[in-house]
Amino acid sequence: MLPQLPEMSTAKWLPFLHTQATPFLFLMLLHIAVFSTVTHTTGAQNTTTAVGSSSTIDLDALIAIKSMIKYDPQGVLSSWNDSLHFCQWQGVTCSPRHQRVTVLNLSSGRLLGSLSPSIGNLSFLREIRVQTNSLSGEIPPEVGRLFRLKILRLHNNSFEGNIPASLSNCSNLQDLHLGFNRLAGKIPDDLGSLSMLRTLIIHRNYLRGGIPPFIRNLTLLNTLSLARCGLGGSIPDFFHQLSSLRRIALPGNDLVGTIPPSLYGLSSLEELFLDNNQLTGRLPMNLGSILPRLQLLSLNDNRLTGPLPPSVLSSSALEILDVTRNNLSGKIVITSREACNLRVLSLSSNHFGSGEDDEKKLIDALSFCSKLEVLDIGNNQMRGFLPESLWNLSTKLSFLSLASNAFSGGLPSSVIFQEALAAAASLRI
Ligand SMILES: *[C@@H]1O[C@H](CO)[C@@H](O)[C@H](O)[C@H]1NC(C)=O
Ligand SMILES: *[C@@H]1O[C@H](CO)[C@@H](O)[C@H](O)[C@H]1NC(C)=O
Ligand SMILES: *[C@@H]1O[C@H](CO)[C@@H](O)[C@H](O)[C@H]1NC(C)=O
Ligand SMILES: *[C@@H]1O[C@H](CO)[C@@H](O)[C@H](O)[C@H]1NC(C)=O
Ligand SMILES: *[C@@H]1O[C@H](CO)[C@@H](O)[C@H](O)[C@H]1NC(C)=O
Ligand SMILES: *[C@@H]1O[C@H](CO)[C@@H](O)[C@H](O)[C@H]1NC(C)=O
Ligand SMILES: *[C@@H]1O[C@H](CO)[C@@H](O)[C@H](O)[C@H]1NC(C)=O
Ligand SMILES: *[C@@H]1O[C@H](CO)[C@@H](O)[C@H](O)[C@H]1NC(C)=O
Repeated sequence: MLPQLPEMSTAKWLPFLHTQATPFLFLMLLHIAVFSTVTHTTGAQNTTTAVGSSSTIDLDALIAIKSMIKYDPQGVLSSWNDSLHFCQWQGVTCSPRHQRVTVLNLSSGRLLGSLSPSIGNLSFLREIRVQTNSLSGEIPPEVGRLFRLKILRLHNNSFEGNIPASLSNCSNLQDLHLGFNRLAGKIPDDLGSLSMLRTLIIHRNYLRGGIPPFIRNLTLLNTLSLARCGLGGSIPDFFHQLSSLRRIALPGNDLVGTIPPSLYGLSSLEELFLDNNQLTGRLPMNLGSILPRLQLLSLNDNRLTGPLPPSVLSSSALEILDVTRNNLSGKIVITSREACNLRVLSLSSNHFGSGEDDEKKLIDALSFCSKLEVLDIGNNQMRGFLPESLWNLSTKLSFLSLASNAFSGGLPSSVIFQEALAAAASLRI
């Protein structure tokens, strides 16, 4: 098992999601920039607390929400009492003029219970942040009444049942995060009407029905994760209009077929996770140049064949490349020695190796990658003498495996064992 890297600053946006064999790609959740606009233009004139007034509607809804919380170990809701106006309650933000609730933030409160359907009565809500609690039960379809909603974060709870189709009525929604729940069924097609969506994260649920075709219509989408949902099917060739996409994560979905051409047209793409599927086919030779901003490419545990395009390893943007356990073969070539930013290179368990002395050239080239932390080329068909430049690899190296190849001659002996390499967490040669 590989050691975990101390620091993985790329791709903080996903709590990955990997098998034990590649723990260096365990990643953390992205906390996307906070939207702070809490103004509104229309709405209630009546700000008194008379029965039936707009303020009473919000108050009643908040009280109903509190009543569905069965356990509140941190006393998050203890300020929700008569001694304060509800706009002063912890986690509640109101519009200054009309005193209507615009933000509900109960995140990381360790709250146990469910989400009251009355939340649908907080009609001025722009943000719901109730992630990282222990909320169960269904996502109330009444949320679909909140047409001003921009942010809906329900992730890291125990919500179950289907994703309500009514969410499609939240036409201003920009950020929808439902990951790490127990949601089941098909992702409703109606969500295709959420044309303002920038972030769509539904990873780690129990969904089916393939990658929904409606995603092609979400042209502002920046981040898409449907990781580890068991969706099945293939990756649709529907990325033509999704040019804002920076991050795509579809690992662990039993996906079959090839990586569609339109995905390679996403020239702004920075992170691509397609690992742990059953994808086949070859990678395009110009991959590195058509995706020039790609920092992270995770393709491990698929059935890809053919060579690793030289343009990939030569891209100065690339920091993490994992193609472990595929059927890739041939020479590994780095054409450029400039500006190598590689931190993780895992090529293990493929059929790499040309029978020539290319591996020497690879290691020579990698000695210019001063940020390299993990190098795993084990379990391939590489051969030849290990070059002296092995000892010139990055001083940051914490994992090196060359095992199960056909290297001969043993370790180069006439060189000084580099301090950092000696201290490496693991050395398998
Ligand atoms: C009501 O909320 C206030 C403000 O947080 C708090 O000081 C007070 O103890 C609360 N009262 C009750 C009965 O919980
Ligand atoms: C939401 O509340 C939590 C806990 O009080 C706090 O840490 C976080 O900064 C708040 N988030 C926003 C966007 O206000
Ligand atoms: C929403 O507010 C209306 C009017 O005050 C009320 O009749 C209704 O029961 C509320 N709905 C929920 C789900 O609380
Ligand atoms: C999910 O919630 C648990 C506690 O409920 C917390 O320890 C963990 O960090 C959270 N994970 C994410 C990805 O927010
Ligand atoms: C969206 O709102 C309209 C009007 O209130 C309603 O007729 C429709 O059923 C809603 N859509 C969904 C999917 O709930
Ligand atoms: C995408 O949008 C077009 C035009 O609005 C619409 O006709 C089509 O049905 C939508 N496709 C999907 C898959 O939602
Ligand atoms: C990998 O390639 C070998 C020989 O080229 C073939 O026998 C095997 O079936 C392939 N495996 C996969 C998973 O495609
Ligand atoms: C290792 O690096 C040193 C210093 O940069 C250089 O002089 C030496 O030639 C390199 N050795 C190999 C084998 O590349």
